[in-house]
Amino acid sequence: MKIQKVGVVGCGLMGHGIAQVAAQGGCMVVVYEAEQKALDAGLARIDKSLAKLAEKAKEKGGSFDAAGVRARISGSLDKQALADCDLVVEAIVENLDVKKALFAELGKLCKADTIFASNTSSFPIGAMAEASGRPARFVGLHFFNPVQLMKLVEVVRTDKTDAGVFEAARAFGVACGKTAIACKDTPGFVVNRLLVPYMSQALLMLERGDASAEDIDIAMKLGTGYPMGPIELTDYVGLDTTLFILQGWVKAHPNESAFIIPKILEQKVAAKQLGRKTGQGFYKWEGDKRT
Ligand code: CAA
Ligand code: NAD
Repeated sequence: MKIQKVGVVGCGLMGHGIAQVAAQGGCMVVVYEAEQKALDAGLARIDKSLAKLAEKAKEKGGSFDAAGVRARISGSLDKQALADCDLVVEAIVENLDVKKALFAELGKLCKADTIFASNTSSFPIGAMAEASGRPARFVGLHFFNPVQLMKLVEVVRTDKTDAGVFEAARAFGVACGKTAIACKDTPGFVVNRLLVPYMSQALLMLERGDASAEDIDIAMKLGTGYPMGPIELTDYVGLDTTLFILQGWVKAHPNESAFIIPKILEQKVAAKQLGRKTGQGFYKWEGDKRT
């Protein structure tokens, strides 16, 4: 079950990166987007990232075929472009109803042996698998942000995932240059089950006035060696995405004390300060850099 043609749905922070690493792994890739503006922005991000990787390779005396990778990626506003893909990876907004509706449509549109994967941060893979009408051919493929640089992919199987489908998805993750770990279909899988409560505790700390955002971030960078502090990381991930994750968990698991929504997060999202992607969150951003 070799994956040669990959569809990616959504060309935002995650989708553009997934499309790029799939093409770097040798696959032909089509990215489907709902909006032309988002598609253009995502493809421009890919161009910038490829140029950076080529520059880095040159500095090290090597080479990187940016043009060759780019030539394997195309964009479309027409879902029909996904019909003959071997694998479709969904990376749209973190909203379970919207994801289920998408997979119900893709289940009817794609060829019978297309494998479906969701990059969801927090929702049950099983719920989307049922909506697709082909639960045996459904996995979670959870990449990390920025996809081009982070070395992990979590491969999530449900009780109904076919063993061969799981293996094909795992092999695809490895072809994308990642170390793949196997996860069960639990809230947040491995990483987010630990990381998101940590981020939410940092925001509660800020809300209480225990320390400034800068000091919380410095503390975790210098005190534990994390590359980013939790508040900067919340900006990097997206405040909307972080809120959607917590809202989904609080609704589904009201008795789990680790799942708490800080008011400060709700307020920032209501003010449309979503972090890096809008240039303002808890910090100001210019492109991918905190100013
Ligand atoms: N493509 C190519 N190159 C890139 C890039 C990209 N997408 N992003 C950054 N780079 C380059 C930068 O341009 C920079 O190049 P120069 O050295 O020439 O300036 C280089 O990579 C290093 O980047 P930075 O200077 O920004 O600094 P850094 O060394 O801190 O690395 C980082 C950046 C890898 C993002 C690092 O800060 C990091 O690991 N942060 C933590 C990220 C993390 O925890 N991600 C997980 C989030 S949670 C998640 O993803 C799951 C979920 O469901 C929410
Ligand atoms: P984003 O807001 O940056 O991008 C989402 C994109 O999907 C947008 O460009 C939007 O136009 C598009 N879109 C929305 N609905 C669509 C539809 N029905 N059809 C086609 N395109 C549609 O979001 P993101 O940060 O890339 O997150 C995407 C998914 O990846 C979410 O499930 C999120 O939880 C998950 N994720 C996010 C991160 C992160 O750090 N941001 C990390 C891992 C996983």
